[in-house]
Amino acid sequence: MKLSSKQYVLFALGITSAGVSANSCQALQGQQAIDECYMKIALDYALIHNPSFPFGALIVDHTKNDISCYGANSNKKNRLLHGETAAFWNCTELFPSPTNDDMSDPGLDWSHQTLYTTGEPCPMCASQSIYRGVSRVVWGTSIPDINKSGRQQLMISMHDVVASAKLGANLPNTQVPVLEGGVLKDECDHAFWCAFEVFRDNDYFAAMARDGNEKFIDDRNARFKCKTVPKNNHDEL
Ligand SMILES: *[C@@H]1O[C@H](CO)[C@@H](O)[C@H](O)[C@H]1NC(C)=O
Ligand SMILES: *[C@@H]1O[C@H](CO)[C@@H](O)[C@H](O)[C@H]1NC(C)=O
Ligand SMILES: [Zn+2]
Repeated sequence: MKLSSKQYVLFALGITSAGVSANSCQALQGQQAIDECYMKIALDYALIHNPSFPFGALIVDHTKNDISCYGANSNKKNRLLHGETAAFWNCTELFPSPTNDDMSDPGLDWSHQTLYTTGEPCPMCASQSIYRGVSRVVWGTSIPDINKSGRQQLMISMHDVVASAKLGANLPNTQVPVLEGGVLKDECDHAFWCAFEVFRDNDYFAAMARDGNEKFIDDRNARFKCKTVPKNNHDEL
């Protein structure tokens, strides 16, 4: 069977024209191997759909070790569609509440879901993770590192957003996601470093120098080669 490169990538991701997913992460043992495998799928998905903003997300039912849905930054359609937001909307539409009551009878058991995302969720997407009720959130590149690659950020960590979640009367909320950053960090950092080269202007370089961050720039430039904006995982980034 001769596949076009896009078909090949979709095939490799386990997406067939029938939409059936037989994903390559299912054979793996151990949380770290599984996390890295799903993060790679999220990153590939991002690089296919929006290489200029390689924020990709994947929602995985970790009790079944199966993908529930995908999301990629879709700022051409709607700039509020960050990768994670796109994935939450996608899963909610794919699995609607059987009784038209998403509040108390959602179509997915969200406590069984892990959100994988190439970049640490911004406060908007972090908030949605809490409201939606996923039990785990895993990311690659941190907010400070996205900032240091030149892109604007809301400099509030997801840990701080989660720590702010309280029940009524300011009681502690124990139903918040467990967080893990830095999964497949180099690959995700590489994609953002190359994609956000366009934002590294004179003001950026002056601020980085003022803050003693020249080494950060030298290190990234040495390790992360950028040809053009990466199109997909078969091009050298
Ligand atoms: C939504 O998720 C489905 C199922 O995983 C996927 O086939 C589809 O491409 C996703 N849609 C978007 C817009 O990402
Ligand atoms: C954010 O990036 C700027 C350069 O644009 C840098 O000067 C600053 O130190 C960075 N802040 C953090 C917290 O990484
Ligand atoms: Zn976001």
